Amino acid sequence: MSNQNLLSIAENLLQPLPNRGIVLLSARELNKMRRVGQLAANLLKHLEPMVQPGVSTQTLNDEAERWTQANGAISAQLGYAPPGYPPFTRSICTSVNEVVCHGIPNSKQILKDGDIINIDVTPILDGYYGDTSKTFLVGKPSVSARKLVKITQECMMQGIAEIKPGARIGDIGAAIQEYAEVNGFSVVREMVGHGVGRQFHIEPQIPHYGKRGSGLKLRPGMVFTVEPMLNEATCDIKFLPDRWTVITKDKKLSAQFEHTVAVIEEGVEILTIS
Ligand code: MF3
Ligand code: CO
Ligand code: CO
Repeated sequence: MSNQNLLSIAENLLQPLPNRGIVLLSARELNKMRRVGQLAANLLKHLEPMVQPGVSTQTLNDEAERWTQANGAISAQLGYAPPGYPPFTRSICTSVNEVVCHGIPNSKQILKDGDIINIDVTPILDGYYGDTSKTFLVGKPSVSARKLVKITQECMMQGIAEIKPGARIGDIGAAIQEYAEVNGFSVVREMVGHGVGRQFHIEPQIPHYGKRGSGLKLRPGMVFTVEPMLNEATCDIKFLPDRWTVITKDKKLSAQFEHTVAVIEEGVEILTIS
């Protein structure tokens, strides 16, 4: 989500609620988040063997939709239309090579050896949303592409490792940004992690850059995503005319990983693992 839209989405969604702002989930709700998180992780696992040269992104989408329904869930992405966006017409996002995020599956888009593809899934199970994504290698990408993918995954984990009660949102972004830049990559600024639970995109925003010790203090019961996008070169991005697809301005590669996590007394729990 873009910063600006996320703000208005959060406002729209939270306005009618008596308790605006950050939502803290109860133990019972956390259990529901564990269930949908596991389902989301299993969906990525289910799709992984299909990610091969010759497959279309539409085929990945259709299998994701089928599997989601077969498991009693629905896709949060299909028909999703936050303020300022046209409805998203597919069930997952497939972001190939220079696509930073929100790529739209298409039957004419065939994966080829050497591509990298992020698949982002968000099933809703029993009213709760589980949001996760991974960047997969298609055949054998270049050494530099593989490094970008590896460092992006490590960045996500470095960010998550900062999370515990009393830490601040800025600690997450700082850890991600430091690790990305020391490895020669840049961090996308416009798209951020977000609160998630009974709604898709809510407060707080989780930037993937920032300063240690800054921002909101983390508390047990907070649930949000950490979803850094790293670019090979410039961090500048562009929106395609479809108004969803985000690409790098220089058309160089971009990679992303995403987990939904919960702040717990003991520190952090990753919800989107199987
Ligand atoms: N799953 C994305 C996120 O991580 C949002 C995708 S919205 C869609 O926040 F409409 F493009 F699917
Ligand atoms: Co996502
Ligand atoms: Co997300």
